[in-house]
Amino acid sequence: MSYETLRIERRDKGVAWLIIDHPPANAISERLMEELEKAADELEADSKVRVIVIASAHPKTFLAGADLKDMIQRGTQLAGNEAGIAEQSARMQRCFDRFAAMPKPVIAAINGYALGGGCELALACDFRLMGGGNIGLTEVSLGLIPGAGGTQRLTRLVGRAKATELIFLARRLDPQEALALGLVHRVAPPERLEEEAAAFAEQLSEGAVRAMGLAKRAIYAAEGLGEDGFGIEAASFAATFKTGEPAIGLAAFFQKKQPQFLRETEG
Ligand code: COA
Repeated sequence: MSYETLRIERRDKGVAWLIIDHPPANAISERLMEELEKAADELEADSKVRVIVIASAHPKTFLAGADLKDMIQRGTQLAGNEAGIAEQSARMQRCFDRFAAMPKPVIAAINGYALGGGCELALACDFRLMGGGNIGLTEVSLGLIPGAGGTQRLTRLVGRAKATELIFLARRLDPQEALALGLVHRVAPPERLEEEAAAFAEQLSEGAVRAMGLAKRAIYAAEGLGEDGFGIEAASFAATFKTGEPAIGLAAFFQKKQPQFLRETEG
């Protein structure tokens, strides 16, 4: 199978690396989402693949989140169409859910920025190993909210108090802070991340990966991650477009300025 935005490498001991290569920032465009889903189908169907590692081809960035250029375009096309915007959010949720529901272990090897949707994809994986950069749900700094499962998965992982702080303040955590919060499982020096991720993936691969896949379903059930929360997230994501805040946040991002929500909203 051929891809434009990623590649799959089958390495030793049944470990497949899904390496995202979508310059300049590995932003999650429609094309990347389609290919992530295609890759998930391919990796799930291949019985020789026992463990999946998601990584980036770019040294500074894991994934910089939703493609903000696409978002501005779609926000304009879908202006006033709240159901259409909510569907965009649900679309990203479904894409990342392919990895959350994958019946084999999935590891995110986070080498650099994992922001917004990049953090949400990592949260949909079973394990997060971090070698550098920052991780966080940064959407509120743009006048948006996380719309790809982040409000649900981060809250389950770190608890409501911490999730509220991280989401409201759009915190970008360094590896040690993320480790202390339990947001990532392990930290490695940047130059050793790939090696450590490979060793961990091989360790998992030597185990009963089918049992792990089944345990995963039961673990999710214990978390009570239900459809409702994801549906509310998508509807709330769409509602942000009525607030006027994304227009301020997104324009400021591309002008490389700090957004002035107070000044511009209160006139
Ligand atoms: N969507 C679309 N383009 C993006 C992007 C995104 N999410 N993130 C970065 N880019 C683009 C930038 O516009 C820039 O393009 P340009 O070279 O045409 O100007 C290029 O990628 C490099 O980004 P830049 O900000 O110049 O690099 P940096 O090294 O200073 O910072 C990041 C990298 C990832 C920290 C920074 O780009 C960033 O904060 N991105 C937004 C992350 C975010 O909040 N995502 C949540 C989305 S909901």
